Amino acid sequence: MAEIKEREQWHSRAAFIMAAIGSAVGLGNVWRFPYVAYSSGGGAFLIPYFVALFTAGIPMLILEMGLGQRMQKGAPLAFGRIRKPLQWFGWWAAGLSAGIVIYYSTILAWSWVYLWHSFDLGWGSDPKTFFNDSVLNISSGPGEIGWPVLSLVIGMALTWLTVYLILRKGVRNVSKVVWVTVPLPTLLLAILLIRGLTLPGAMDGIRYYLTPDFSKLAQPDIWLRAYGQIFFSLSLASGVMIGYGSYLGKKAEITNSALITGLANCGTSFFAGFVVFSILGYLANVQGLDVDKVVTKGTGLAFVAFPTAISKLPFLNSVFGMIFFVTLLTLGIDSAFALQEAFTTGFYDKWKIPTGKLAGIFVLVAFPVSLIFVTRGGFYWFDIVDKWICDFGLVLSGLVQCIIIGYIYKVEDFRGYLNTNSEVRLGKWWVWALRYVTPAVLIVILCVNFYTEITEGYENYPRWATLLGGWGVVLFWAALGYYLWKRPSKSDVL
Ligand code: PHE
Repeated sequence: MAEIKEREQWHSRAAFIMAAIGSAVGLGNVWRFPYVAYSSGGGAFLIPYFVALFTAGIPMLILEMGLGQRMQKGAPLAFGRIRKPLQWFGWWAAGLSAGIVIYYSTILAWSWVYLWHSFDLGWGSDPKTFFNDSVLNISSGPGEIGWPVLSLVIGMALTWLTVYLILRKGVRNVSKVVWVTVPLPTLLLAILLIRGLTLPGAMDGIRYYLTPDFSKLAQPDIWLRAYGQIFFSLSLASGVMIGYGSYLGKKAEITNSALITGLANCGTSFFAGFVVFSILGYLANVQGLDVDKVVTKGTGLAFVAFPTAISKLPFLNSVFGMIFFVTLLTLGIDSAFALQEAFTTGFYDKWKIPTGKLAGIFVLVAFPVSLIFVTRGGFYWFDIVDKWICDFGLVLSGLVQCIIIGYIYKVEDFRGYLNTNSEVRLGKWWVWALRYVTPAVLIVILCVNFYTEITEGYENYPRWATLLGGWGVVLFWAALGYYLWKRPSKSDVL
């Protein structure tokens, strides 16, 4: 088949692994992991976390990279080749990644603005008020949207411009860019770690991070959070790893590459935990509080706690400020272009639209849409869309994917295929993980989340807002996926 020859490929195996790591390692490792870990039993959380990595994370990573490589197609057509109607599912999964990149870009827009303010430590002595009032200019609720905030619009434009410039030349360019965007944040994190560990009180923070509270292991919630974190962090169920796998040659090795990616990602999270907690220990020390009192939840950790810490540093504050926000930008940008690529590759596969053109069209559509998240009410919408796409969208998509591969696709045959080129033999455990363990856990996660949503709602948001920004967004991608599936393709190879 001539079309396979035309498909681009990674420069080398190393470039593929770097790109996969770049997609996985992102903002989720720096603010999400440490926060989830600390609120879920500190050191004890590492047990469910690594169980989740080995029972769901790595098996699904192998599945996704392997499926992409075997089919030589992104998610939509890869699933479509298993059974025709499954193309719809593939478009939906890839659509979720388009949905993620549209709101993920918001965090990058904030990071640009903070990078700018690092020059003169513009957040002053009250970073929380600064974040809410000066940066977000936040309104009273999701109903009051207001206009986009100018500085954030500029940050957003810079983000999309960067993504466009990188993706314009396709994966060959990505092969090069990741040699900067992967090692650089790691190095920057190491610098921050050294600074963090030498601050007074740092050890209290580390102790807090690592002291296991085994009693928490009995709570089912902790296990759910561990799986959710692994899922988001490894960029699973969104077509990203299928898309990246599709750019591998037919003879490429999968199993070991997936292992390396999974371990590197989780190693980075573990490492980032030391950076975050040494700084939190220092903050606790300065403010005379306990470590658990200084942590602000989720996003606040990066944009409130860190600026506070940066201002309190004895010297070179601006330099450390810039280092931190450049770290966030380089961490996020390779996740962003991986997400966009997961979606657009489907258009290349189906309609042979050139990669550069696709990158441009996507950015032209996505940029204006993403401006919703930098309006005065945008923060609330960001929060709602993030919650729904991850907790409901990705988890449901992961479940369906396991069922498709475990029951509809010839999974034993697939294992044999993977083993022909693999450096490590993939055992029967893999089939078990995909067929029984992962689906069972995902069903529990979904039911618990669904139940909590119905009974308690989410963060006091009005129902109409979560229906629109939550379910509405998840269903929108399903509807668009249906449309894209039904549109005839250019070739009849399908
Ligand atoms: N893994 C990325 C992170 O940790 C986010 C992401 C999620 C990327 C899903 C792709 C798909 O920040």
